[in-house]
Amino acid sequence: MSDKTSAAAASLRELTSAGKSKAAIYQSLTGELQTLITGQTDFLANISNFAALLFGSLPNLNWTGFYLLRGSDLVLGPFQGKPACSCIAMGDGVCGTAALQRAAVLVPNVHAFPGHIVCDEASQSEMVLPVFKDNRLIGVLDLDSPQIGRFDDIDREHIEALLRMLMDGTDVPEYRLAPPD
Ligand code: SME
Repeated sequence: MSDKTSAAAASLRELTSAGKSKAAIYQSLTGELQTLITGQTDFLANISNFAALLFGSLPNLNWTGFYLLRGSDLVLGPFQGKPACSCIAMGDGVCGTAALQRAAVLVPNVHAFPGHIVCDEASQSEMVLPVFKDNRLIGVLDLDSPQIGRFDDIDREHIEALLRMLMDGTDVPEYRLAPPD
């Protein structure tokens, strides 16, 4: 990580511990992401850094990472947290539901979500966002928290915007893209 990025990460940690607004946290994250992807378009490099950036910067997360589309399955991709289930069928669990519906799924209490797949028993709430490149699904981003009700629409909107920035600056191999609708 460059000195510039390290300084931005340090400043973001201060913001978070000082209890600053989500808007301030996400504004810092936007700048850090821009720094990380400038001059780098590699798919695995960029989504790996993205998972690490969010996990290291957003408070109260125990798992953050990608599940990537392979046929009709979602296969574990770059993540931060404990080892997790490596394959989720389309439509299964929170991840498979978000992928099938191509829509965000916010789960305030995972114990109340029928079919929730337990990967880390610490998880109490979860948010899964579909990830697109040029309007074609490539997988989902999954965020887990040990806190009930951790995620809201403000988180969703900001992380969706970060994902758009990430994907606009990243080359995605054709085989990773869902067939066009
Ligand atoms: N809970 C997810 C499975 C993935 S882990 O949380 C990392 C689900 O129900 O799809």
